[in-house]
Amino acid sequence: MSESTRIIVNGAAGRMGQALLKAIAEHDDAVLSAALVRPGSTLDGKSSGIASTPTYTSVAPAAIDFDALIDVSGASGFSAALQLAVQRSVAFVSGSTGLDEFQMREMHRAAQVIPVLWAANFSIGVVVLAHLVGEAARLLPAWDIEILEAHHRHKRDAPSGTALMLGQHAARARDIDFPDPVADRGGSRIEGSIGYAVSRGGDVVGEHEVRLLGSGERIELIHRASDRDIFARGALKAACWLSGQAPGRYGMTDMLELGRA
Ligand SMILES: NC(=O)c1ccc[n+]([C@@H]2O[C@H](COP(=O)([O-])OP(=O)(O)OC[C@H]3O[C@@H](n4cnc5c(N)ncnc54)[C@H](OP(=O)(O)O)[C@@H]3O)[C@@H](O)[C@H]2O)c1
Repeated sequence: MSESTRIIVNGAAGRMGQALLKAIAEHDDAVLSAALVRPGSTLDGKSSGIASTPTYTSVAPAAIDFDALIDVSGASGFSAALQLAVQRSVAFVSGSTGLDEFQMREMHRAAQVIPVLWAANFSIGVVVLAHLVGEAARLLPAWDIEILEAHHRHKRDAPSGTALMLGQHAARARDIDFPDPVADRGGSRIEGSIGYAVSRGGDVVGEHEVRLLGSGERIELIHRASDRDIFARGALKAACWLSGQAPGRYGMTDMLELGRA
């Protein structure tokens, strides 16, 4: 393996892809091997405009070696990227959200032969938030939990992958089933239940608020991302770390050595 981690980015022309290309260009220990765009994209062969970065391509060149693939193409590009990582036996990092059960199973199977890290959110602050949510949910089992999230107008999935992940942490901490995120919100609320609220618009990078609501008091835990670069830096750090790991499923908590929150 070379000294720098050689990385392919899938979904390179998107918002996250662009942030990643910039992060890799600024990083001393990583180098971009290829910037993958959607097959048939008019960007194929064009420059990303970021200095010392390969032109966009819709096919990973067979002659190019790489150590890790970072997928930020969303649910539509995820499976092909995972397949490429398995074929080339490299570490696979994905932040794509809105995946279906089949894709989650594909990822589970791939983890038997390559290291796989999927995270709905690459921010270190959100990893800590999830940990705090789990603790609070466990200590206050009867309090209602409301998870509110806001994102830019282009986001395709709702509730966000991060909101669902926070709900899973709370449910796991309470040892209850994961709540249906699209359950009817009408009528009175079952005590201790977990609900979601979604806001979309403008250029909001990502906000998550977890309210724990008791009688006469409440706790609010909030994370606001103001810059997409935090996700790109987290994904890049994850790729550099993951390329040295054995096959298996990993999360951001493993990389940060926080233990499974
Ligand atoms: N984990 C995190 O921290 C984190 C943070 C932010 C966002 N995300 C997630 O990352 C994903 C991307 O977000 P974004 O805001 O960057 O979206 P975006 O701006 O829409 O970018 C997605 C890019 O992927 C491309 N793409 C689609 N299908 C593809 C395929 N089959 N092969 C290669 N490229 C393909 C799209 O091309 P076209 O435009 O041609 O369709 C687009 O350029 C979403 O699922 C989002 O929820 C994760």
